[in-house]
Amino acid sequence: MVASPKWALVTGANRGLGFDAAKQLLASGRPVIITSRNEAAGAKAAQALSDAAAPGARVELLQLEASSPDSIKALAAQVQAKYEGQIDLLINNAGIVGDGTSPANHEAILKTNVDGAIDITLALLPHLAPGARVVQVASQMGMLGMIGPAYAASIKGAATLDDVRAAAHRFDSDDLSKGNPIAPSYSVSKAALIRATQLLAESPDFKSKDASVVAVCPGWCATDMGNGSGDKVGIKPPRTSEQGANSIVLAAGDKVPNGSFSFDGELLDWTSKPALPE
Ligand SMILES: NC(=O)c1ccc[n+]([C@@H]2O[C@H](COP(=O)([O-])OP(=O)(O)OC[C@H]3O[C@@H](n4cnc5c(N)ncnc54)[C@H](OP(=O)(O)O)[C@@H]3O)[C@@H](O)[C@H]2O)c1
Repeated sequence: MVASPKWALVTGANRGLGFDAAKQLLASGRPVIITSRNEAAGAKAAQALSDAAAPGARVELLQLEASSPDSIKALAAQVQAKYEGQIDLLINNAGIVGDGTSPANHEAILKTNVDGAIDITLALLPHLAPGARVVQVASQMGMLGMIGPAYAASIKGAATLDDVRAAAHRFDSDDLSKGNPIAPSYSVSKAALIRATQLLAESPDFKSKDASVVAVCPGWCATDMGNGSGDKVGIKPPRTSEQGANSIVLAAGDKVPNGSFSFDGELLDWTSKPALPE
């Protein structure tokens, strides 16, 4: 008897790259749980995904506000109750770009992009299937050459997840001004997410479950977020949302090694600088 495929769970999948990643996973025959912070938007997306998928495809919706520890706790409880051991792919896609020009904005970006992704991972890991893969949607904007030297040193040197959080949460306007001029706090957040991925990959919790975790860049894509950046720099994003989603889905595959950072299935050197803004 052939075992039925396990579930994939994609956060922030009511639109953009998360929606397209869910669509691609469904097309590959996987059942998919999408999360949305807005239930109406999530229900609309789940219906659209179901309409586009082959008959019999399974799409389910859970509510999640990624920046809220209570919401993450509630998600974990629902996963435990309904999907215990049945999810083998978690894609932490929910993210915001912000502008990072104030301590409050910096904090908001960090809460979703770093704390949210780490907390969701830690809360769901005990309930994932053995051998599960976690994909953290990062960015080449989070390569160390895109952030100021003080952030780069403290994030690269972080030895624990708490160190990563502390390094990234610190608001240092001088060092932010030395990094990505368009979205400095966003770059810090994605650098921290990549370092957190490296630490999680080596953690006993992941090892004891034979689970793996990778960070991925989707490239600069024509989503709501990507177009926003396009307006600011006056050029259009070079990639479609489908192409970006494909890079995310490729990172879920066995060819991409545990703890790595990739783009379109190719490994990237996180400590360098991207050739193009992605
Ligand atoms: N687009 C690019 O060029 C690009 C490049 C590199 C990396 N990325 C990364 O790819 C991921 C997806 O980006 P995208 O372009 O698809 O962005 P998007 O079009 O702005 O969509 C973002 C998604 O994340 C959700 N979200 C944001 N904050 C959330 C929160 N606190 N709790 C729950 N959901 C939240 C949004 O929900 P709402 O609809 O409720 O707002 C939406 O579903 C992000 O992590 C982003 O940093 C994007």
